Amino acid sequence: MALLNIVQEGDPILAKVCRPVKEITPRIVRLIDDMKETLIDADGAGLAAPQVGIMRRVVVLYVGDELVELINPEIIASEGEQQEIEGCLSVPGVWGITDRPEKVTVRGLDRNGDVIVREGEGLSARCICHELDHLDGHLFTEKAVRILTEKELEEYMESKKDAEE
Ligand code: NI
Repeated sequence: MALLNIVQEGDPILAKVCRPVKEITPRIVRLIDDMKETLIDADGAGLAAPQVGIMRRVVVLYVGDELVELINPEIIASEGEQQEIEGCLSVPGVWGITDRPEKVTVRGLDRNGDVIVREGEGLSARCICHELDHLDGHLFTEKAVRILTEKELEEYMESKKDAEE
């Protein structure tokens, strides 16, 4: 396995629509393993293939504590709404408030070609929407209701710290 370079905002690759995976080759499996390793190393919530320069519909992301791989993922149901904080490994240091559904159900394939379905709530729902947006060339900064100021970000980090204590 290998750590991959994460593409940063401004790179045109992040604005492109990714192609579906037609056949799960050893190369795709290796991509998934490398993306997982890269996500863990970066301490992120999710990573999409275009963020590592590969224009294929593949994401790895956390649903709760489970690190899930999804090939050709689709959101098949969503309900409710939330306005919460979101960030992105391709847009370091920037956090914004987005409108997302509170709950989403995503369906895709794993490396064996088996169909997997996961339901995410709260942060996991945001993460699923965010990563799937990457596959269509969209960054959260386009969708953000607003971007947090430095002061708001500081306050948010403090409140998160308090909540953990
Ligand atoms: Ni992102």
